[in-house]
Amino acid sequence: METTRVAICSHKGGVGKTTLALNLGLALAQLGHRTTVMELDSQESLAASLLRPGRTMPGLHEVVTGSVTLGEALVATKVPGLSLLPAGHVDPLEAVGFQSLLAQPEGLGPVLEALKGERFVLMDCPSGVGGATLGALGVATHTLIPIQAEPLSLRSVQLVLETMAGVRDRRNPDLELLGLVLMMFDRDADASMEVVRAAWRDFDPEVLFETVVPRSPVYLDASLHGVPVAFMAPGMHPEGRRFQMLAEEILRRLAREEVGHAGPAQSLL
Ligand SMILES: Nc1ncnc2c1ncn2[C@@H]1O[C@H](COP(=O)(O)OP(=O)(O)OP(=O)(O)O)[C@@H](O)[C@H]1O
Ligand SMILES: [Mg+2]
Repeated sequence: METTRVAICSHKGGVGKTTLALNLGLALAQLGHRTTVMELDSQESLAASLLRPGRTMPGLHEVVTGSVTLGEALVATKVPGLSLLPAGHVDPLEAVGFQSLLAQPEGLGPVLEALKGERFVLMDCPSGVGGATLGALGVATHTLIPIQAEPLSLRSVQLVLETMAGVRDRRNPDLELLGLVLMMFDRDADASMEVVRAAWRDFDPEVLFETVVPRSPVYLDASLHGVPVAFMAPGMHPEGRRFQMLAEEILRRLAREEVGHAGPAQSLL
Protein backbone atom coordinates (compact mmCIF):
# COMPACT_ATOMS: atom_id res chain seq x y z
CA MET A 1 0.00 0.00 0.00
CA GLU A 2 1.24 3.50 -0.79
CA THR A 3 2.50 5.71 2.01
CA THR A 4 0.12 8.45 3.08
CA ARG A 5 2.43 11.44 3.58
CA VAL A 6 0.76 14.09 5.69
CA ALA A 7 2.08 17.65 6.06
CA ILE A 8 0.73 19.02 9.36
CA CYS A 9 0.92 22.75 8.96
CA SER A 10 -0.57 26.07 9.98
CA HIS A 11 0.16 29.67 9.32
CA LYS A 12 -0.26 30.55 12.97
CA GLY A 13 2.22 29.34 15.60
CA GLY A 14 1.36 27.39 18.75
CA VAL A 15 -1.92 25.94 17.43
CA GLY A 16 -1.08 22.32 18.24
CA LYS A 17 0.81 20.97 15.19
CA THR A 18 3.43 19.10 17.21
CA THR A 19 0.78 17.85 19.67
CA LEU A 20 -1.27 16.58 16.74
CA ALA A 21 1.71 14.95 15.00
CA LEU A 22 2.94 13.01 18.06
CA ASN A 23 -0.47 11.94 19.39
CA LEU A 24 -1.91 11.01 16.02
CA GLY A 25 1.31 9.15 15.16
CA LEU A 26 0.94 7.07 18.33
CA ALA A 27 -2.75 6.40 17.65
CA LEU A 28 -2.11 5.25 14.07
CA ALA A 29 0.68 2.93 15.25
CA GLN A 30 -1.57 1.56 18.05
CA LEU A 31 -4.18 0.79 15.40
CA GLY A 32 -1.58 -1.27 13.57
CA HIS A 33 -0.27 1.18 10.95
CA ARG A 34 3.48 1.67 10.65
CA THR A 35 4.07 5.39 11.16
CA THR A 36 7.04 7.73 11.23
CA VAL A 37 6.62 11.17 12.77
CA MET A 38 9.12 13.52 11.24
CA GLU A 39 10.07 16.88 12.71
CA LEU A 40 10.77 19.65 10.22
CA ASP A 41 10.98 22.34 12.85
CA SER A 42 14.42 23.31 14.14
CA GLN A 43 12.80 24.19 17.53
CA GLU A 44 13.19 20.44 18.20
CA SER A 45 9.96 20.18 20.24
CA LEU A 46 9.45 16.58 19.26
CA ALA A 47 12.96 15.62 20.21
CA ALA A 48 12.52 17.09 23.71
CA SER A 49 11.55 13.71 25.17
CA LEU A 50 14.45 11.94 23.53
CA LEU A 51 17.17 14.17 24.86
CA ARG A 52 18.80 14.76 28.15
CA PRO A 53 19.36 18.50 28.69
CA GLY A 54 22.45 19.77 26.92
CA ARG A 55 22.66 16.75 24.60
CA THR A 56 21.98 16.80 20.88
CA MET A 57 21.10 13.97 18.56
CA PRO A 58 21.26 13.71 14.79
CA GLY A 59 18.07 13.91 12.78
CA LEU A 60 16.60 15.23 9.55
CA HIS A 61 19.15 18.05 9.34
CA GLU A 62 22.10 15.65 9.43
CA VAL A 63 20.34 13.31 6.96
CA VAL A 64 19.70 16.00 4.34
CA THR A 65 23.19 17.43 4.75
CA GLY A 66 24.64 13.95 4.33
CA SER A 67 26.48 13.51 7.64
CA VAL A 68 24.37 10.53 8.82
CA THR A 69 22.14 8.00 7.08
CA LEU A 70 18.39 7.88 7.60
CA GLY A 71 18.80 4.53 9.33
CA GLU A 72 21.18 6.12 11.85
CA ALA A 73 18.86 9.06 12.56
CA LEU A 74 15.51 7.23 12.79
CA VAL A 75 14.56 6.51 16.39
CA ALA A 76 12.56 3.35 17.06
CA THR A 77 10.15 3.83 19.96
CA LYS A 78 8.91 1.19 22.40
CA VAL A 79 5.55 1.33 20.59
CA PRO A 80 5.60 -1.26 17.80
CA GLY A 81 5.34 0.47 14.41
CA LEU A 82 6.10 4.00 15.65
CA SER A 83 9.38 5.71 14.71
CA LEU A 84 10.49 9.29 15.16
CA LEU A 85 12.80 11.34 13.00
CA PRO A 86 13.83 14.36 15.07
CA ALA A 87 14.89 17.59 13.36
CA GLY A 88 18.49 17.16 14.45
CA HIS A 89 20.71 19.96 15.57
CA VAL A 90 20.33 23.16 13.59
CA ASP A 91 22.49 26.10 14.59
CA PRO A 92 20.13 29.13 14.86
CA LEU A 93 22.24 30.91 12.25
CA GLU A 94 21.68 28.00 9.86
CA ALA A 95 17.92 27.75 10.38
CA VAL A 96 17.11 29.71 7.20
CA GLY A 97 19.55 27.58 5.17
CA PHE A 98 17.92 24.41 6.55
CA GLN A 99 14.49 25.66 5.49
CA SER A 100 15.81 26.48 1.98
CA LEU A 101 17.31 23.01 1.74
CA LEU A 102 14.00 21.40 2.70
CA ALA A 103 12.18 23.54 0.12
CA GLN A 104 14.16 21.88 -2.72
CA PRO A 105 12.79 18.63 -4.16
CA GLU A 106 16.17 16.98 -3.49
CA GLY A 107 15.85 17.90 0.22
CA LEU A 108 12.87 15.83 1.42
CA GLY A 109 12.36 13.75 -1.75
CA PRO A 110 15.01 11.09 -1.01
CA VAL A 111 14.00 10.90 2.67
CA LEU A 112 10.38 10.19 1.76
CA GLU A 113 11.51 7.69 -0.87
CA ALA A 114 13.49 5.83 1.81
CA LEU A 115 10.39 5.79 4.09
CA LYS A 116 8.12 4.21 1.50
CA GLY A 117 7.71 1.04 3.60
CA GLU A 118 5.72 3.11 6.11
CA ARG A 119 1.92 3.32 5.99
CA PHE A 120 2.01 6.93 7.28
CA VAL A 121 4.63 9.65 7.45
CA LEU A 122 3.49 12.64 9.48
CA MET A 123 5.51 15.81 8.86
CA ASP A 124 5.40 18.27 11.75
CA CYS A 125 6.05 21.62 10.05
CA PRO A 126 7.18 24.87 11.63
CA SER A 127 4.52 27.60 11.68
CA GLY A 128 4.12 29.82 8.63
CA VAL A 129 4.71 28.94 5.03
CA GLY A 130 8.48 29.04 4.88
CA GLY A 131 10.77 26.66 3.04
CA ALA A 132 10.17 23.64 5.29
CA THR A 133 6.39 23.85 4.88
CA LEU A 134 6.66 24.40 1.12
CA GLY A 135 9.03 21.42 0.90
CA ALA A 136 6.63 19.24 2.93
CA LEU A 137 3.65 20.29 0.79
CA GLY A 138 5.76 19.50 -2.27
CA VAL A 139 6.24 15.85 -1.26
CA ALA A 140 3.02 15.26 0.72
CA THR A 141 -0.03 13.36 -0.45
CA HIS A 142 -2.21 15.24 2.07
CA THR A 143 -2.34 18.30 4.31
CA LEU A 144 -3.78 18.23 7.81
CA ILE A 145 -4.48 21.62 9.37
CA PRO A 146 -5.01 22.13 13.09
CA ILE A 147 -7.22 25.10 13.96
CA GLN A 148 -6.89 26.60 17.38
CA ALA A 149 -10.40 27.27 18.63
CA GLU A 150 -9.63 30.97 19.19
CA PRO A 151 -10.50 34.17 17.33
CA LEU A 152 -8.53 34.88 14.10
CA SER A 153 -7.73 31.19 13.61
CA LEU A 154 -10.09 30.66 10.70
CA ARG A 155 -8.44 33.44 8.70
CA SER A 156 -5.08 31.73 8.95
CA VAL A 157 -6.59 28.47 7.59
CA GLN A 158 -7.35 30.36 4.39
CA LEU A 159 -3.67 31.25 4.02
CA VAL A 160 -2.63 27.59 4.16
CA LEU A 161 -5.35 26.66 1.64
CA GLU A 162 -4.03 29.36 -0.73
CA THR A 163 -0.47 28.07 -0.29
CA MET A 164 -1.68 24.54 -1.05
CA ALA A 165 -3.32 25.78 -4.25
CA GLY A 166 0.00 27.37 -5.32
CA VAL A 167 1.96 24.17 -4.57
CA ARG A 168 -0.61 22.13 -6.52
CA ASP A 169 -0.14 24.39 -9.55
CA ARG A 170 3.63 24.40 -9.46
CA ARG A 171 4.85 21.14 -8.08
CA ASN A 172 2.42 18.63 -6.61
CA PRO A 173 -0.90 18.46 -8.52
CA ASP A 174 -2.12 15.46 -6.48
CA LEU A 175 -1.90 17.19 -3.08
CA GLU A 176 -5.19 16.72 -1.21
CA LEU A 177 -6.64 18.29 1.91
CA LEU A 178 -7.03 15.52 4.48
CA GLY A 179 -8.95 17.86 6.76
CA LEU A 180 -9.13 20.42 9.52
CA VAL A 181 -8.98 19.55 13.23
CA LEU A 182 -10.24 21.88 15.94
CA MET A 183 -7.70 22.00 18.76
CA MET A 184 -7.66 23.56 22.25
CA PHE A 185 -11.43 23.90 22.39
CA ASP A 186 -12.55 25.53 25.61
CA ARG A 187 -16.28 25.03 26.08
CA ASP A 188 -16.40 27.54 28.93
CA ALA A 189 -15.04 30.35 26.75
CA ASP A 190 -17.56 32.11 24.49
CA ALA A 191 -14.85 33.10 22.00
CA SER A 192 -13.74 29.47 21.63
CA MET A 193 -17.32 28.25 21.18
CA GLU A 194 -17.84 30.97 18.56
CA VAL A 195 -14.88 29.70 16.48
CA VAL A 196 -16.23 26.15 16.65
CA ARG A 197 -19.68 27.34 15.51
CA ALA A 198 -18.12 29.36 12.67
CA ALA A 199 -16.04 26.36 11.59
CA TRP A 200 -19.12 24.09 11.61
CA ARG A 201 -20.96 26.72 9.57
CA ASP A 202 -18.18 27.46 7.05
CA PHE A 203 -16.52 24.10 6.44
CA ASP A 204 -17.98 21.03 4.86
CA PRO A 205 -18.33 18.01 7.19
CA GLU A 206 -16.15 16.19 4.65
CA VAL A 207 -13.37 18.63 5.54
CA LEU A 208 -13.80 19.33 9.25
CA PHE A 209 -13.13 16.32 11.49
CA GLU A 210 -15.82 15.48 14.06
CA THR A 211 -13.20 14.80 16.70
CA VAL A 212 -12.42 18.02 18.56
CA VAL A 213 -9.47 18.28 20.95
CA PRO A 214 -10.30 20.17 24.17
CA ARG A 215 -8.00 22.51 26.03
CA SER A 216 -6.73 20.57 29.04
CA PRO A 217 -3.71 20.92 31.32
CA VAL A 218 -2.81 17.29 30.64
CA TYR A 219 -1.60 18.30 27.16
CA LEU A 220 0.83 20.81 28.60
CA ASP A 221 2.02 18.25 31.15
CA ALA A 222 2.49 15.65 28.43
CA SER A 223 4.49 18.06 26.29
CA LEU A 224 6.67 19.00 29.27
CA HIS A 225 7.47 15.29 29.68
CA GLY A 226 7.82 14.94 25.91
CA VAL A 227 5.33 12.06 25.73
CA PRO A 228 2.00 11.50 23.98
CA VAL A 229 -0.99 12.35 26.18
CA ALA A 230 -2.03 8.67 26.20
CA PHE A 231 0.99 7.97 28.43
CA MET A 232 -0.20 10.32 31.18
CA ALA A 233 -2.21 7.61 32.98
CA PRO A 234 -1.68 3.87 33.53
CA GLY A 235 -3.16 1.90 30.65
CA MET A 236 -4.20 4.82 28.48
CA HIS A 237 -5.22 8.37 29.42
CA PRO A 238 -8.74 8.97 27.98
CA GLU A 239 -7.34 11.80 25.80
CA GLY A 240 -5.29 9.12 24.03
CA ARG A 241 -8.56 7.50 22.94
CA ARG A 242 -9.54 10.83 21.40
CA PHE A 243 -6.61 10.58 18.97
CA GLN A 244 -7.56 7.00 18.16
CA MET A 245 -11.01 8.32 17.20
CA LEU A 246 -9.36 10.95 15.01
CA ALA A 247 -7.13 8.25 13.47
CA GLU A 248 -10.22 6.13 12.76
CA GLU A 249 -11.90 9.13 11.07
CA ILE A 250 -8.77 9.64 8.95
CA LEU A 251 -8.67 5.97 7.95
CA ARG A 252 -12.35 6.11 6.92
CA ARG A 253 -11.70 9.23 4.84
CA LEU A 254 -8.73 7.62 3.09
CA ALA A 255 -10.80 4.49 2.40
CA ARG A 256 -13.52 6.65 0.80
CA GLU A 257 -10.87 8.40 -1.32
CA GLU A 258 -9.64 5.02 -2.58
CA VAL A 259 -13.17 4.08 -3.64
CA GLY A 260 -13.56 7.51 -5.28
CA HIS A 261 -10.35 7.07 -7.27
CA ALA A 262 -11.43 3.62 -8.44
CA GLY A 263 -14.55 5.11 -10.05
CA PRO A 264 -18.19 4.29 -9.29
CA ALA A 265 -18.93 0.96 -7.61
CA GLN A 266 -21.92 0.38 -9.91
CA SER A 267 -23.06 1.57 -13.31
CA LEU A 268 -26.50 2.68 -14.39
CA LEU A 269 -26.71 0.37 -17.36
N1 LIG B 1 -5.41 20.70 23.85
C1 LIG B 1 -4.49 21.39 24.52
N2 LIG B 1 -4.75 21.87 25.75
C2 LIG B 1 -3.81 22.57 26.42
N3 LIG B 1 -2.58 22.85 25.97
C3 LIG B 1 -2.26 22.40 24.74
C4 LIG B 1 -3.19 21.64 23.95
N4 LIG B 1 -2.59 21.32 22.78
C5 LIG B 1 -1.35 21.84 22.84
N5 LIG B 1 -1.16 22.49 24.01
C6 LIG B 1 0.05 23.21 24.41
O1 LIG B 1 0.15 24.38 23.64
C7 LIG B 1 1.51 24.62 23.27
C8 LIG B 1 1.60 24.68 21.75
O2 LIG B 1 1.28 23.41 21.22
P1 LIG B 1 2.19 22.78 20.05
O3 LIG B 1 3.63 22.88 20.38
O4 LIG B 1 1.63 21.46 19.73
O5 LIG B 1 1.84 23.82 18.90
P2 LIG B 1 2.62 24.03 17.51
O6 LIG B 1 1.59 24.46 16.53
O7 LIG B 1 3.43 22.83 17.19
O8 LIG B 1 3.58 25.25 17.89
P3 LIG B 1 4.74 25.86 16.94
O9 LIG B 1 4.04 26.71 15.93
O10 LIG B 1 5.57 26.64 17.90
O11 LIG B 1 5.45 24.69 16.34
C9 LIG B 1 2.31 23.49 23.88
O12 LIG B 1 2.85 23.93 25.09
C10 LIG B 1 1.28 22.40 24.12
O13 LIG B 1 1.62 21.59 25.21
MG1 LIG C 1 5.48 22.65 16.71
